[in-house]
Amino acid sequence: MTWSITTFSANQTFQCGRTLAPLLVAGDVVLLSGDLGAGKTQLTKGMADGLGVVEPVTSPTFNILLVHEGRLPLYHFDLYRLDRGAQLEDLDYYGTLEAGGVAVVEWGDRFAEAMPDDGISVTLNIVGDESRRIDLAPLGSRGAELAAAWAAGCDAVPGISVVESSR
Ligand SMILES: Nc1ncnc2c1ncn2[C@@H]1O[C@H](COP(=O)(O)OP(=O)(O)OP(=O)(O)O)[C@@H](O)[C@H]1O
Ligand SMILES: [Mg+2]
Repeated sequence: MTWSITTFSANQTFQCGRTLAPLLVAGDVVLLSGDLGAGKTQLTKGMADGLGVVEPVTSPTFNILLVHEGRLPLYHFDLYRLDRGAQLEDLDYYGTLEAGGVAVVEWGDRFAEAMPDDGISVTLNIVGDESRRIDLAPLGSRGAELAAAWAAGCDAVPGISVVESSR
């Protein structure tokens, strides 16, 4: 199954991220792809809020990794500035994914080797000034379970549209 979620405001994308938070357990990985300004950071802000992170969440473009303390640690990566997948090892990317928190990776599709076996690959598309299509593609069995529950959660948010398709 895949899910196509449409939000019609930045706040709806935030609420969409927020519904994922209570479903997350240590070791979960969410990859975010999509153009500049598609809403990757906005979606992450909602996840962070739902995890109880109180400090502001900003794009980790220049830091590559920002860690926020919440119900679980949130490892917020942004791979935009990396040139080569081999740099992931220098950053201890793989160790961090298993460090007991939840990883959210902006530009997570940049390197094939950054893809986890289990998790959700999220692609955001700009469809209008204030609307975004957020496609969920699960990876592995944990990803399938998590994506299904997240899509159901988003469907319950007023205004957000969710379409499920089999593949
Ligand atoms: N439906 C929507 N969902 C998300 N953001 C929206 C929406 N409508 C408008 N926006 C605006 O689009 C912008 C999204 O910016 P954001 O930083 O989240 O993008 P990004 O994908 O992280 O970009 P970058 O690749 O630069 O990190 C914000 O200014 C936000 O207010
Ligand atoms: Mg961003």
